[in-house]
This record gives sequence, structure tokens and C-alpha cells, in this order.
Amino acid sequence: MKEWTREERSRIFDEADSSGIEQKSTQLLSSRWRSDFHVQPLYGLMNDPNGFAYYNGRWHLFYQWFPYGPVHGMKHWYHVSSEDLLHWQNEGLAMKPDVLFDNYGCYSGSGFVKDGDLYLAYTGNSRDYNYVRRQYQLLAKLGTDGKAKKLAGPLISPAEGYTEHQRDPKLFELDGKYYILIGAQTDAEKGTFLLYASESIEEGWQLQGELKVRGYENFGDMVECPDLEKIGDTWVLLFSIQDHGEGDRNLPNRFNNVYFTGQMDFANLEFIPDGPYRSLDCGFDFYAAQCGFDPAHPDCRVLSAWFGCPDNTWPATDEEGWSGLLTMPRVLTVENGKLMQRPAPSFEQLKGELLFNAENGSIVSDTMHGLMPSTAVIRLDDPENESVELNLFTRPRKKGFEIRYDKNRKNLTVDRTDMINQCNTDFGTVRTVHLENGLQSLEVYIDRSSAEIFVNDGEYVLSARIFPDAQENLIRMGGRNIDLKIWKPKKTADTEFVL
Ligand code: FRU
Repeated sequence: MKEWTREERSRIFDEADSSGIEQKSTQLLSSRWRSDFHVQPLYGLMNDPNGFAYYNGRWHLFYQWFPYGPVHGMKHWYHVSSEDLLHWQNEGLAMKPDVLFDNYGCYSGSGFVKDGDLYLAYTGNSRDYNYVRRQYQLLAKLGTDGKAKKLAGPLISPAEGYTEHQRDPKLFELDGKYYILIGAQTDAEKGTFLLYASESIEEGWQLQGELKVRGYENFGDMVECPDLEKIGDTWVLLFSIQDHGEGDRNLPNRFNNVYFTGQMDFANLEFIPDGPYRSLDCGFDFYAAQCGFDPAHPDCRVLSAWFGCPDNTWPATDEEGWSGLLTMPRVLTVENGKLMQRPAPSFEQLKGELLFNAENGSIVSDTMHGLMPSTAVIRLDDPENESVELNLFTRPRKKGFEIRYDKNRKNLTVDRTDMINQCNTDFGTVRTVHLENGLQSLEVYIDRSSAEIFVNDGEYVLSARIFPDAQENLIRMGGRNIDLKIWKPKKTADTEFVL
């Protein structure tokens, strides 16, 4: 892939470039890796979801976007919206770095609805003439034209005692007071959280101090994209850890998205966890998750995440000039103290023609005849303590993309070792989760270059980008007495070019 210079990465979107980007985006319509039901960039690179909120009867979501190619460059916010979390509509560019305080990128942030406005709190990544960086927390409001209107001046300037890394504001309200939680790096280069409070959204923000998690000193080198949500009676602290170093070898990647459940003590700036932190996703490519909130459903949140990770690259799509997806939106609930993650209910409508049906191990109908489709929804129920093997995108004598459950060890494993197109092998090609209560169900969503595996009705999720070669076109299924159905998903991704 071409080397990108600092100048090329620093380009701010210029209207004059629209038709060039449109041309490249149109070429992508024939790409075998483009998604049928995921949010994906028109062209260029997308990473974190931003500003996720339910507002005026629709879900609004933005994503970090570099319009010119598959590299991390000058970040813009691109806007998409949806009525049902399944059909997303392209709304166009919402925000570009065009003021002093965000002159090197409109970085990540959150959405917050108040008195008829959707507020967008975000980080202005600014640099001076010597390329020295300062990060400010800024505010915008969504205008009726779908564009963000920036409010003058920063809400929060960089705090003393911390490095240049202070970002990703989560704006929320509790008992009539407003809070902003950000991720930060101490001068000793350790990851932490800073909590700010104010009586008003638009001014008066004061640093309260570091939010501490009882029993923990800090988290890796840097905390990114923190989110704090009260789901039912339980507080959930979600965040992404940059480089956990020697801290936790149980985490699979160098960059990991984790969560705690517990209680919040705002007076003492302390989160009291009721157990160790856990991975939000036990697969390969997942980072920077954030929650959206619909007041009609106060006991759940909807989670969106970058179907990617800062260290990872995906050569297959890099070559085509684009990078990244958002994961399927997940509904989060806390049940018996446990965070559950399920596809949004609207995803039932994704299921089109039933391609394959086996009941109690016997095939009732099959129009696939061993051929693996490029998109599929696979549902497996009641394996009755049996081992299971699903080999997707396989070829003779190869495992392909394997999902296997070992009944003796009670381990569920996702394995992409055998695929022709490899990516990010430095972080391993196998992921395993131990299922204390065994396997009860699996729901697998395959969308050309991605797989999301929901285990036991939302107990665990494993996500993987995969890039099957044309030769990898077979499917094999093994497991006695299983109920297994495969549907052809409908196409719900918007392909309209809107900038
Ligand atoms: C996480 C992150 C954020 C930052 C954004 C920049 O992936 O590094 O901390 O705001 O991406 O694109």
C-alpha cells in the first residue's frame, strides 16, 4: 500500500474533492468485501462510533472518518441515522476540523439530548506551529440540516498533571447536574479517568478529579472512549485500554475494550466494581464502543463499536481504499448481575429466505448443498451437551473459519488460522471462551468480510473480520442432534452517496 505523508494525512475535506470520492465510492459497489448490513464508510477510513443518541424519533450515529484513504488522518464526523437500528441512512459529513481548537481533528465524543437539542461533546485535537498537541473538550449541537453547529470556545481545557492525551468526553446528567467523563494519561504515562461537573451544559465545567476504580491503580498507557451507564440498578463502566503492557495477559490484544459492573460513589469519585473487568467482545476486532439511550427503554442501552482495533490492518480492503465497519448494534441489559448483549430485535427482520434447516440432527430442507454463501444468519439451538463444529468458508482438507464447541472442556473456540487471507496474526488467530454452563445457543451473523457470534443468548459475543478467498466456498457442519437454521440475510446497508 502507498505510504502516506503527514501532509496527505492532514487534509481537511474540501468540497472540490466530492466527485473524486464519489467515483471511488461507486467503484466499491462491486467489491466482494463491502457489507450488506453494516455501517461502512463511503470510502477512506472509519473508526470509533460517536454521538450515538435517540433524537426526534430516530437513532443518530456519527463515526470518525478520514475521507481520503484507508489510514488514520485528519478526523471528521460522518453522520448516519436509523429508525430501527437495522436500516441505516447516510446523512453526510456532519463536522470537519475547521476551528483553532480542533485544527488537527474532530476526535471522538458522545451525544446527549436535552430540551429538544442533540448536544455533541467531542475532543478537539489541536496542534500549534511546532506540532505540539493539546486536546480540548468541545461542544456542538445538531442542526436541522444534519450538520453539527459548533459552540464557541472549549468547555474544558487540558488539565495539569496529565499528558497531551485527554479525550473522548462522555456527557451525561444525574440528579440535575451535568458530568463529563474523559480518558486521560497521567504524566507517568498511565491510563486514568477524569471527571468534570457543571450546573449548565454550555459553561462552568470544573474538574472534580480522577475517577478511581476501587482495587485498581490505572489502566494500561491510556484510557480511551470511557462510558458510564446506569442500566437498571447497576452501573456499568465501559472503556478501551491502550496497551495494557504487562498488566493483564488475559486480554487478547494490545488494545482492548472492557467493562466493569458495580456501583458509583459520585461523592468520593469512586467506582466500586463487583468483580474484575471483562472483555466486551471476546473476538479479534473490536474497540471504542459507546452506548446510545432511548428514554422509552430506560433499562437497556444500545451499543455500537468500531469493528476494528488501533493496531489492526485489513490489507484486503486497504487495497481498495477503505477501512473499517461499525459492529451490529447490540442491546445491553444487566440480568442477574451479568451484562448481556443481544442483536437489536429488528435484526429478526434481517432473516430472508431459509436456506437450510436441520431439526434434531436431521435435514429438513437444504438449498445450499454444501456451498457457503457470502452472507448468512446461522442459528443453532439445544446442542444437548454435544460438541459442535461449524466450518465456514472452508475448502477440502482445511478448517476455513472454524467455530467449534468442545463439550468436555466447555470451550467455545473461533479459529481463523486456516484462512487464505490472514490479518493481524501477531495477536493470534484463535480465541476461546469457557462457557461455565455449556453451550445453549449460537447466533452467527456473516456479512462478507465479518462474523459476529452471539453465544448463549448474549452471554458472550465474538467478532472477527474475515476475508474469504473465492476458493473458500464450502460449509461443513458437525454435531449430533442439533437444531440448525441458516437464512439469507436481506440487504439493509445504504449505498447512496451522500456527502
Ligand atoms: C480511539 C481513538 C480515540 C480518539 C479517536 C481518534 O480509537 O484513538 O481516543 O478520539 O480514536 O480517531
